[in-house]
Amino acid sequence: MTLILCSLLPLCASGVQAENIALKITKRYLNFPVSHGQERGRMTFETEGEPALSVAIRLAPEEADYWVFRDVSALEGKTVRIAYDGDPRGLGKIYQSDRIAGQDSLYREKNRPQFHFTTRRGWINDPNGLVFHDGEYHLFYQHNPYEREWQNMHWGHAVSKDLVHWKELPDALFPDGLGTMYSGSAVIDCANTAGFSRDGTHALVAVYTAAGPERQVQCVAYSLDNGRTFTKYAGNPVIDSRDKWNSKDTRDPKVFWYAPTGHWVLVLNERDGHSIYTSPDLKRWTYESHVTGFWECPELFELPVDGDPGNTKWVMYGASGTYMLGSFDGRVFRPESGKHRYTSGSIYAAQTYTNIPAADGRRIQIGWGRISHPGMPFKGMMTMPTELTLRTTKDGVRLVSTPVAELDRLFRPLGEWRELTAEEAGRRLEEFGTADRLRIRTTIELSHATDASLTLSGQPLVAYDMNHNTLNGRFYSPQDPTSMRLTADIYIDRTSVEVFIDGGLYSYSMERRPEAGNDRGFRFRGKRVRVCDLEVFSVESIWQPE
Ligand code: FRU
Repeated sequence: MTLILCSLLPLCASGVQAENIALKITKRYLNFPVSHGQERGRMTFETEGEPALSVAIRLAPEEADYWVFRDVSALEGKTVRIAYDGDPRGLGKIYQSDRIAGQDSLYREKNRPQFHFTTRRGWINDPNGLVFHDGEYHLFYQHNPYEREWQNMHWGHAVSKDLVHWKELPDALFPDGLGTMYSGSAVIDCANTAGFSRDGTHALVAVYTAAGPERQVQCVAYSLDNGRTFTKYAGNPVIDSRDKWNSKDTRDPKVFWYAPTGHWVLVLNERDGHSIYTSPDLKRWTYESHVTGFWECPELFELPVDGDPGNTKWVMYGASGTYMLGSFDGRVFRPESGKHRYTSGSIYAAQTYTNIPAADGRRIQIGWGRISHPGMPFKGMMTMPTELTLRTTKDGVRLVSTPVAELDRLFRPLGEWRELTAEEAGRRLEEFGTADRLRIRTTIELSHATDASLTLSGQPLVAYDMNHNTLNGRFYSPQDPTSMRLTADIYIDRTSVEVFIDGGLYSYSMERRPEAGNDRGFRFRGKRVRVCDLEVFSVESIWQPE
C-alpha cells in the first residue's frame, strides 16, 4: 500500500538532523502511528507547488497507542517529502490508504459521545468560524490532527444541514510562517467589500489569529467554494496591535456586519479586555474602543428583550461565558449591567453563528466542551447547539440558553410519571441506570431546605440546596425566591452531562465521573423530596458511519 520512493536519508531541516521519506500520493489519507511514550519531534511536509507544513508529533517507533491521519486527497499525484527529527523508525510505518486507521469502528468507539460533535482523531478546543451559508452550518474548530493533546493549531472543519448531524471535512487552515491557526470567526461578504470574488460568488471570509512564537496577529483567508478550500490574503496580517497593548495576548477576532452604518466590526481580545475595530472591506481596520474585564474569545451581538424587536440590548461576553449587557453604536460598547453568568462547568470559548437568515433570526451558540473520553484517540467535544435569548427576570434582563429545537428529533419518550416520592422515582429510573445516553426532564420540590439531589452512579447531576441557594456548588436563586421547586432538563451522553435549569435560565455541563465501584444507577436523595414530574427519553445517535 505504501509507496516509499527513497529510503531513510539524513537531511538537515531547520538545522536539526532529520530523516526523511518521499511518498507519491495515490490515496486519500496518510496514516501515522502515535505513542505518548515518545517526546514530540518536528515533522515537515514538503510538496512542490504547495506551502510547506511543519508539525509536532510523537511518532511511534514500535507499538502505536493510536493512529492519526492527514487528508492528502488534494495532493493526489504529487510527491510529498516527509522529514522527522525524532526517532526515525516510525517513518517507515506511515502508510497511505483510502481509509483512516480504525475506520471500521469510527463513531462506534466505546467512549465516543453519541450526540455531541467530536473529531475523528486528535484534539479539539474552541469552535471557530461559525457561519451559515448556502444551506450549511459550518463548524470550524481548533484542531490538533496529530495528537489528542493541544498543539499544532489548525482549523478543523465540519458541516451540517440541521445542526444535529455533522460531516467532517478536511482541515481548512494550516499553520504557516506567521504561526499556528488560533481562534477566529467567519462571515459571508455578500457585497464583495473585500473584492475576493470575481464572479459574483459570495466569499466566505475567515478572520483568525496567527500565533507565532513572538507575536499574535490577525489575518484573513477567503473561500469561494463554501469553505472547502481557503486562500490566505496576501496582505496578512491585517491587524498587528501588540506594541499598542504591550502584550502578546491579542487574539480571537469575532467579526460581523453592522447594518445601520454599513461597516464591518471586529471584536478582539487584547490584554485585559475586548477592543473594537471597524473596516469597510475586512482588510483595513481602524481601532475604535476598548472594554476591560474579559479574557479570550470575544462575542458581541444584539438580542430583543422578551422577543420584542423594538426593545433590544447588546450582549458582550468572553471565553468563560460571563457577560455584560449594554448598548452599541457600531464603534463603542457601553456596558449597562453585569457581569452576569448564565452557564458554567465544562463549556468554554462558546461562539455564535453569523449569517443566520433573517426569517430564522435565532442567535445560535456552540461551545467547547472540555471533556475527555478515556482511552479514545480524540479529546474535547462541542456542547449541544443552543439558542440564546434575553428574558426579563426578577433580577433584570438576563441571557437564557436552551438546546435548539432541531435536537428534538433525537428524543423518544420512554416514560412519564407525576407526583412520585423520591423512592418511587428512583424505582422508575432503575431500568435506565446502565443506559449510555438518556434525557431526563424532572421537576423536584424540596421539603427541607438542604441537600436534595439526583445522582447517577454516585455523581450528582442535580444537587440543590435552598439553605445556601446552591446548585451543584454555584449560587442559584429561582424566580420565586421562596420556591423550593426546580426544573431540570438533563442530557446524558457517554462522557458528559449538560443540564438546563428552569427553562435555560441557568445551565451547566460536566464530565461523567461515576464513583468507583458504584453501579447503583440513578438515585434521588434528600429528606422527603417530592418529584412533581419525571420524563425519560431515549437519545438517537447523530452518527451515521460512512
Ligand atoms: C481559548 C484559546 C484562544 C486561542 C485558542 C488556542 O481556548 O486559548 O484564546 O485562540 O484557545 O487554541
